[in-house]
Amino acid sequence: MIKPTCEDTFLLKKRNLKNRYFAYTFRPYTQVKKCKPGHFLQLQIPQTDIFFRRPFSIAGVTPAGDIEIIFKIFGKGTALLATLEKGDKVNLLGPLGVPFTLPKKNEKTILIAGGVGFPPLMYLAVEMIAKGYDPKSIEFFYGGRTTDDIIEKSRIKKLGVNFHPVTEDGSYGMKGLVTKPVEEFIQSSDTNMRIYSCGPTGMLKAADSLGLKYKIPGQLSLEAPMPCGVGICLGCVKEKTDGGHARVCCDGPVFEIGEIVL
Ligand SMILES: Cc1cc2nc3c(=O)[nH]c(=O)nc-3n(C[C@H](O)[C@H](O)[C@H](O)COP(=O)(O)OP(=O)(O)OC[C@H]3O[C@@H](n4cnc5c(N)ncnc54)[C@H](O)[C@@H]3O)c2cc1C
Ligand code: FES
Repeated sequence: MIKPTCEDTFLLKKRNLKNRYFAYTFRPYTQVKKCKPGHFLQLQIPQTDIFFRRPFSIAGVTPAGDIEIIFKIFGKGTALLATLEKGDKVNLLGPLGVPFTLPKKNEKTILIAGGVGFPPLMYLAVEMIAKGYDPKSIEFFYGGRTTDDIIEKSRIKKLGVNFHPVTEDGSYGMKGLVTKPVEEFIQSSDTNMRIYSCGPTGMLKAADSLGLKYKIPGQLSLEAPMPCGVGICLGCVKEKTDGGHARVCCDGPVFEIGEIVL
């Protein structure tokens, strides 16, 4: 278990990705070497009276000490976050949570991303490739309502993974819900597979069901309200399938397929 730090950093780079999405790079961050895909940060919204920090998955790190998040404006906190400018100071608590476990080298990796669940899966793909996994062993399924919901298309393509964008209105990639082509892929493949998913609850439920139905192991990264982020307040508790309970912030946010009642 990593001991998190609480430290000030500065907004180094701000990219407006359109459709209310922003990519922020902060520097310096002393914990970059400890960060792993699936970890998240609790970010204090600066210059406001907002008391609770907001959780964001780590989207990537660099050896130079940069850390990136990608967020979508959702409510008051993220709207204020979007007004920050280069050089503004931000306080980060992290890295927090249990990260993803990397797949076995002989497994096909199926990433199922949706909405703001895409950043930790992109980080997972980058980490796997850096560790010598063949990019072509990664199937990156990414679902959204329209083409505007599929963020960082060219960045994902550049990774060399098998990219499968899916939109509900068919404006980009395949038409429909992302889990349909995932199921078709699973049915047509006879190799060992592992599923990783992060996104809206409906999508996570479908990914969980696919894993259980086809006996494919994998992990899901969950969201929950996170007042403290460090296991104290019990504001993030979910029911487990074995009858127990888990805190999403510190027992997760990454859980095994079949572990949590979704
Ligand atoms: C592990 C994790 C990773 C995430 N990663 C990303 C990401 O990479 N990109 C992204 O865009 N979004 C991400 N999110 C979602 C993001 O945290 C929310 O969109 C953001 O908190 C919304 O804040 P807001 O102030 O804009 O919205 P608001 O609706 O104004 O506020 C929501 C906040 O209120 C708090 N809250 C809600 N209900 C309760 C409650 N019952 N008790 C106490 N507090 C409560 C929560 O802390 C929540 O953050 C992630 C969430 C989690 C849990
Ligand atoms: S957010 Fe407080 S216990 Fe998880």
